[in-house]
Amino acid sequence: MQKLAIQGGPPVVPRGEGQVVWPVVTPEDREAVMRVMDSGKFTYLAQGEQEVQGLEQEWADFVHSRYCVAVSNGTVALALALSALGVCPGDEVLVPALSFIASAIAPLHQCAIPVFVDIDPHTFNMDPQCMREKITPRTRAVLVVHLHGLPADMDEICAIARAHDLFVIEDAAQSHGATYKGRQTGSLGDIAVFSLNVSKNLPTCGEGALVTMQSPQLAERMRMLRQYGEVITPGQERTYISHFLGWNQKPNCIQAAFTRSQLSRFPAYQARRVENVSRFLAALADLPGVICPLTPADRTHAWHIVRLRFDARAAGPDDLAPDLLREALQRTLRSEGVPLARYQRVPLPAQQVFQTREGFGRGYPWTLPGVPEQRYCGEDYPQTLAVIADSLTLQRVHLHPASGPLLDLYVQAFHKVFAHLDVVARLARSIQRRREDQ
Ligand SMILES: Cc1ncc(COP(=O)(O)O)c(C=O)c1O
Repeated sequence: MQKLAIQGGPPVVPRGEGQVVWPVVTPEDREAVMRVMDSGKFTYLAQGEQEVQGLEQEWADFVHSRYCVAVSNGTVALALALSALGVCPGDEVLVPALSFIASAIAPLHQCAIPVFVDIDPHTFNMDPQCMREKITPRTRAVLVVHLHGLPADMDEICAIARAHDLFVIEDAAQSHGATYKGRQTGSLGDIAVFSLNVSKNLPTCGEGALVTMQSPQLAERMRMLRQYGEVITPGQERTYISHFLGWNQKPNCIQAAFTRSQLSRFPAYQARRVENVSRFLAALADLPGVICPLTPADRTHAWHIVRLRFDARAAGPDDLAPDLLREALQRTLRSEGVPLARYQRVPLPAQQVFQTREGFGRGYPWTLPGVPEQRYCGEDYPQTLAVIADSLTLQRVHLHPASGPLLDLYVQAFHKVFAHLDVVARLARSIQRRREDQ
């Protein structure tokens, strides 16, 4: 058997071999961008601007949502969604302890207070039972994240939300095209946010976001929020009257045109992703201690991120701490050419911003009158901690529809490394010794 690359052997995936770049940019995408350049209509307010409205209509149709409003990015979209719903300063918003920081920061931008909820360690999504325990008389909304592209337990979460009169915001930044009981994410709560960041399953050439909703009042409120609180009527002269506090968070026409072009290929790309990732996971399933992500039978996965957990006891041959095995596996697999990365190093409440509470100054919004002291302590989220300790993720490369051969090489690398678990265990012990010496 060949030596591991970390011991000086040849890597399974030589540098540059079979690499793919996401997003795929085709001549049609370039033509779409040039169409806007040639039209001279660069803002969505321009008379006859087609691209933003076209994208909004096409995404609403895809999601089966009555309305879609495009804005400048997903983080802003979440804050505007909270504002559109009427979530006020000091209101509590439930947020899963495992997500991208934007899910926790958006409530703060609206001066609301994030209250964190532990996750289900199998789905990595908000645990409905833990959610129930965090509800107080001040809770106004739950911001549910379909993390990595797997829809959360929406029936349970929406039932609890209904019983307590809470709004449901779907953070669908990672879940384009994923379904729950046959329905698209983005159509399951009061309002939903899809990021179009260039790294996402449906990308733009930069930053952008799409917000979906069924309510005409919410749609109108979002349109006004993105444009200084003004009413913009296509084909009519602008009045410049701000009816309430709004922002300037309009989408960009060039980026809308690019995403429309991407959207025409999205279903085909998504089908290939499902095929490629399913084959990859099936080939890893028998390796000792590898825990592949599950997809409950009532939903489909967008596979924005693939998270693998590693069970140190099952992997043997040594009784290693989960984080040591993870780190040794990461180093060993990366040297074979598998770009495994960590996604979130601490639960969101343990992020510095929640320790320093540096925000608008004077401890605001946590120091608003009537806002009780929040405890932000990572140890209060044992399932999130366990998942962060023992898992690694595959990001971005597998989004490319032609990533199959590269994923096959990754499988070979996993098998090679798992045939040398004694070397991995030795490396883990040396990492431990170094940590103890520090
Ligand atoms: C779960 C989640 N929510 C929100 C966002 C924010 O989206 P954007 O990057 O468009 O601001 C992201 C982006 O990575 C995300 O992954």
